Amino acid sequence: MAEKATVLSVNNLVINFKTDNGLVQAVRDVSFDLKQGETLCIVGESGSGKSVTSKAIMGILANNAIIAGGNIMYRGENLLEVSEEEFYKIRGHKIGMIFQDPLSSLNPIVKIGKQITEATLINSDKLKLMYNDLISDDLIRYKNTLAKMNIQIDTEEKKLESYISELSKKGKLTAADKADIKQKKAEFKLFAQNTKAEYMAQARTLKEVLDKKSTEAKAKVKEYKAKVTAEHKEKEARIREKLKNASGEQKEQLQKELEEEKTNFMNQLSITKAEAKRRALEIMREVGIPEPEKRYNQYPFEFSGGMRQRIVIAIALTVSPEILICDEPTTALDVTIQAQILELINRIKAERNLSCIFITHDLGVVANMADRVAVMYAGKIVEYGTSDEIFYDPRHPYTWALLSSIPDVDSKEKLEAIPGTPPNMIYPPAGDAFAARSKYAMNIDYREQPPYFKVSDTHYAATWLLHPNAPAVEMPRIVKERIRISLEEDSHEHEE
Ligand SMILES: Nc1ncnc2c1ncn2[C@@H]1O[C@H](COP(=O)(O)OP(=O)(O)OP(=O)(O)O)[C@@H](O)[C@H]1O
Ligand SMILES: [Mg+2]
Repeated sequence: MAEKATVLSVNNLVINFKTDNGLVQAVRDVSFDLKQGETLCIVGESGSGKSVTSKAIMGILANNAIIAGGNIMYRGENLLEVSEEEFYKIRGHKIGMIFQDPLSSLNPIVKIGKQITEATLINSDKLKLMYNDLISDDLIRYKNTLAKMNIQIDTEEKKLESYISELSKKGKLTAADKADIKQKKAEFKLFAQNTKAEYMAQARTLKEVLDKKSTEAKAKVKEYKAKVTAEHKEKEARIREKLKNASGEQKEQLQKELEEEKTNFMNQLSITKAEAKRRALEIMREVGIPEPEKRYNQYPFEFSGGMRQRIVIAIALTVSPEILICDEPTTALDVTIQAQILELINRIKAERNLSCIFITHDLGVVANMADRVAVMYAGKIVEYGTSDEIFYDPRHPYTWALLSSIPDVDSKEKLEAIPGTPPNMIYPPAGDAFAARSKYAMNIDYREQPPYFKVSDTHYAATWLLHPNAPAVEMPRIVKERIRISLEEDSHEHEE
């Protein structure tokens, strides 16, 4: 099988949050690839860093976030270095996101039709879109250089600030402390100057290229407009010529043609309100909202939770994204509605050939969605593999614990709750963060971070149990039993 293309790649991402109690280490060295047309499920308990990871991709992290390392590559660009505004304007419409609570992403006092057409109408000027498209690569390169410069200077400045505040916490500053601070401040100033000088030189060259591209793009847009206008005038003239000698039914027909030509011409230059509405109704139908014409003029409160989530999905789709990120999109819904929304997401993904990141704390949901699974614990991915590898050949004790805690399909009861609580992420444990809650923990688990051991080309797990010298342990009986049952069920299905 040919290897699928990677559409998004997260590499060694580290995200901390500054708080009054200290630095929260929310995401600790996370890497994964999203493959074209696949769904990657990120699964883990509350607080494991799932939402922070997805917010970093969308460029919507809270203000106290510090991106301390790594990159997020999309189409050759590091999304972490594109300014939010630029990201939104040019590339932001390629990635759509659906949040847990549909109410919070809808405006309660705006009719849903308007909310669905909003994104389309913001980008309605086709000539402007064409211009933006023509210059986008060069604009991003230029802005990136400036953003990179600012990030480097900001990061140094934040380091300096936290150094000073740590010193002041210890009590009154000594003379040596003061001298030290003065020295560090001088060093920072020099660093800022040098960084600026270096990047501004690059930026100037890139700006020259950008200006040239911009002039060319303007000319191309003008040419396009002139061509479309000339074609329109010619067609119009032809119809008018015929109209001169026409009468009765033929005249009516020609007048209709004239109207159509006018609409057609306008649609070539911009998306009209009527066109935006037509598209909105089409998408509402696509996501299974009955009677879209009537629903178009209603407010969010007039919809059920499941229908609201469909509207949120519709809004995400208006901009034709390439990647869809769903952060616990069904947690607030009851089980039947949840199943319908999951089915909808799967259908849309297949029809539109989207690549999906699907976040959930429920491995039960993952089974029906995922091509690949990343299991997250305490800010790290502890196991990563194809859906089959995670469900039929799990290796990390945390994955075993999650699998044991999936509610039984028949009794709906959780079989084994995971004992203990996740660690405080201001002081994450030294070794395998799950050790304190794991009956399989060995001494080394408390001391040293396990590396990723390779189980197959697509399957990795960070657990010392995979070290060649580790004692052989078996996964919990209940997990083994479940795997046996589902393998049996599978083989029956094949026989039928
Ligand atoms: N703005 C912030 N300031 C401080 N800490 C934060 C901030 N945002 C998130 N965190 C912390 O980062 C960690 C990861 O949070 P995140 O929201 O990614 O968890 P999650 O895996 O999405 O959990 P859940 O299943 O509850 O949604 C948590 O410890 C959380 O408290
Ligand atoms: Mg979350």
